[in-house]
Amino acid sequence: MEKGLQIAIDGPAAAGKSTIAKITASKLGYTYIDTGAMYRALTYKALQSHINVNDDDALLKLLNEITIELQPSEDGQIVKVDGEDVTEAIRSQEVTSQVSATAAQPRVREMMADKQRQLANAAGVVMDGRDIGTAVLPNAELKIFMTASVEERASRRYEENMKRGINRSMEELCQDISRRDKADTERAASPLKQAADAIYIDTTSMTIEEVADTIIQFAEKRRSL
Ligand code: CDP
Ligand code: CDP
Repeated sequence: MEKGLQIAIDGPAAAGKSTIAKITASKLGYTYIDTGAMYRALTYKALQSHINVNDDDALLKLLNEITIELQPSEDGQIVKVDGEDVTEAIRSQEVTSQVSATAAQPRVREMMADKQRQLANAAGVVMDGRDIGTAVLPNAELKIFMTASVEERASRRYEENMKRGINRSMEELCQDISRRDKADTERAASPLKQAADAIYIDTTSMTIEEVADTIIQFAEKRRSL
């Protein structure tokens, strides 16, 4: 039986990584893993427990104590922390504004990467994040670095927010995204960076279907090697 590929999708905020990763995983019959959700879940729990997201020791202790579960669902993935469904709660503005600080802590990253590698033992996996191709799965058979202009990414988030009844201006969204990209790119521990062997895709003027089809074609090619 075919073993299944490891597919790594990295890139900046709101580039379409999770949307495309979900579709790709579903078409190939692979497991989808959103690693950003794990950093968000830890941040959510830290905020609830009044833990400073810059405190490496406290975060690490918390990460050791809690159970983060990612369960496949119709819509992609249900995220649970200690049994509580936090799928929606981890997308809040508060979590979004703090998550890059949590994710900058080196020991937190090491522990997250270990957990993510264990999850990637599934037969075939599509994992999205910031450091999947560079640090978590350096031997992934297919690596994609996906991006789009900041304006396009903010506009996609704007549309998404409208559907969820969240009212934030384009200007605020552009600022948020740029701030998070800067923090993720400039941190010392496994920063957001294109892996040397990753395929670069600028999705600014591509539809979801076009991006998904492009990646599936690359995956089919790798599978036939
Ligand atoms: O979906 P969105 O692009 O808004 O972000 P996300 O994928 O949910 O990731 C949230 C944050 O987690 C990012 O801004 C990074 O700070 C961090 N992250 C990371 O450092 N490494 C990963 N592999 C995934 C996420
Ligand atoms: O995971 P990441 O933060 O990179 O992005 P996402 O949450 O998958 O995508 C952000 C939004 O952009 C979603 O509402 C997608 O439907 C939309 N999108 C799009 O309009 N065109 C694309 N080519 C990719 C995503």
